[in-house]
Amino acid sequence: MASDDYKLNAAKAALELIEDGMKVGLGTGSTAAIFIDLLGERVKDGLDVVCVPTSRASEIQAANLGIQLATLDEEPFLDVTVDGADELDQELRLIKGGGGAHLREKIVAMASERLIIIADESKVVDQLGAFPLPVEVDGFGLRSTFEMISVLCAELDLKQDLQVRETPEGEFFKTDGGHYILDCHFDVIPDPEELADCLSLIPGVIESGLFLGIAERAIVGGADGVTVYEAPFEDEDEIV
Ligand code: 5RP
Repeated sequence: MASDDYKLNAAKAALELIEDGMKVGLGTGSTAAIFIDLLGERVKDGLDVVCVPTSRASEIQAANLGIQLATLDEEPFLDVTVDGADELDQELRLIKGGGGAHLREKIVAMASERLIIIADESKVVDQLGAFPLPVEVDGFGLRSTFEMISVLCAELDLKQDLQVRETPEGEFFKTDGGHYILDCHFDVIPDPEELADCLSLIPGVIESGLFLGIAERAIVGGADGVTVYEAPFEDEDEIV
């Protein structure tokens, strides 16, 4: 079975958690896109949900499928968000932002009672950091923010290999919010909490792709079927 089948199986399992009347956050990326396609089929069959997309790409896809959409200003609290991840560890700490949407993904996830991650098994790691950590930064003082993050990396003994993300045409990549992304090639992040705390002190940093203590569950498709990982934190009412 190929990675796309693994993603499909994870997305199908997540779809079973969606019920009539729910307010659902829609993630971004290839795995989330599979989930959105499946959700669109259920909507055609009569499922009644209102969805908040985390990116323009997911918004366009969902709108084309006839899924009812809202903004977070119209629906500030959601039941569940289903999204992908670039890396996840056993504690359900994540790296996200490979698609450059992690700021909106985090805002929508935090507005949701539950964040469910769907992924293929290649995303499960022992330690975060092999995937370059995306850090969304303001364009104002970009160089200065770049240097501050470099200094922080040195202080935390992290590899200093930062790159401003570019488009295939060689332009600086811009997020839906008009910001830039610095991809930080750390290889390993021994203490993700410390790194996230330190990054948040740099004023030009808008948001890093570290999602810590946010995901409740990860549904991971692999060669042996679907494996469900639960976050180590307590949650009183389970959905399945
Ligand atoms: C986008 C994300 C995606 O969820 C992440 O990049 C995973 O994408 P894919 O499912 O295509 O591997 O964080 O910002």
